[in-house]
Amino acid sequence: MSDVFKKRIFSGVQPTGNLTLGNYLGALKNFIPYQETAETLFCIVDQHAITVPQDPIQLKSSIRSVAAAFIASGLDPNKSLIFNQSRVPQHAQLAWILNCVARIGWLNRMTQFKDKAGKNKENASVGLYTYPVLMAADILLYKTTHVPVGEDQRQHIELARDVAIKFNLDYAKYSFFPEPQTILPPVAARIMSLRDGTAKMSKSDSSDMSRINLNDDNDLIAQKFKKAKTDLDAMPQTIQELEGRAEVKNLYTIFASLTDITLQEVVDKFADTNFSLLKEALTEVTIQKVGPIRHQMNKLMTDSTYLDEVMENNANKAQALAQPVLDDIYEIVGFK
Ligand code: AQP
Repeated sequence: MSDVFKKRIFSGVQPTGNLTLGNYLGALKNFIPYQETAETLFCIVDQHAITVPQDPIQLKSSIRSVAAAFIASGLDPNKSLIFNQSRVPQHAQLAWILNCVARIGWLNRMTQFKDKAGKNKENASVGLYTYPVLMAADILLYKTTHVPVGEDQRQHIELARDVAIKFNLDYAKYSFFPEPQTILPPVAARIMSLRDGTAKMSKSDSSDMSRINLNDDNDLIAQKFKKAKTDLDAMPQTIQELEGRAEVKNLYTIFASLTDITLQEVVDKFADTNFSLLKEALTEVTIQKVGPIRHQMNKLMTDSTYLDEVMENNANKAQALAQPVLDDIYEIVGFK
């Protein structure tokens, strides 16, 4: 990537329910260190949320709850811009232009649309289909250079790169947009459901037992790990023995990520134990990490004025970054 672009980090989280341990380990935890080394923007992507039906009252509360989770996880609103997408209309304005750059064939390859639309594709919203283009707009509007996300979002960032490259070529503005790079977490790129090691842990999974929510209390965390699926084989003695054992590998991955150790170290630590001990240890480290976040989130959620002010002020700052870029784009495409 050309050095002309300042390191700028952008990532978004949908306010579609309670954030999970998957969201935390795959995304939020990895946002924090960048505040010290780069310009950082973390967006509550409410326009993405309505690509599937949302209850408006619940949505409003979920927007605040994601803002609270960001702050409780360690994002400082004085260092990072924390705002909701709909308050910065430039995202939607750029999305329209990029809809005219992206190709239908590209969107047809998006696996998340296929997963979310399921068998009822004809009845899915148009928004769900063009979601990756709005995401490209979110990223490119700030000339973002790096996007920290979980593995499930990798394909969408690649699409944002393709859109950037095509725009640059179409308008002969060869380095107008940087080609954003995906940053995946080292171990927890895809945390799986506690009930099914082949499905991603997801906030919209119909089973609450499939996930740890950031607002689960300690008893519920213990109960969920106790019931988490494992298998009948012995404790793994080597990393290779984790292969083909999706549920067990997932529990090991969660432990490694929560304690910042390698999978090899987790294998060694539990080699001579059993699944009950592993689950007890997991419960303990999860409570240590999630407990203070939950506590702080609950505190922040009692002060909606503060959360609304943070989002409003930061949305104004985001608009100030976005508008000059959009002005340039309007000139490039011939709108002015
Ligand atoms: N299970 C996961 N493991 C690792 N990372 C994950 N992320 C989500 N689930 C996992 C990462 O969290 C960030 C925010 O995700 P999102 O809310 O924008 O939407 P999503 O990826 O579709 O996550 P969910 O929880 O599955 O939401 P719903 O249920 O609404 O679709 C992203 O960086 C994502 O990679």
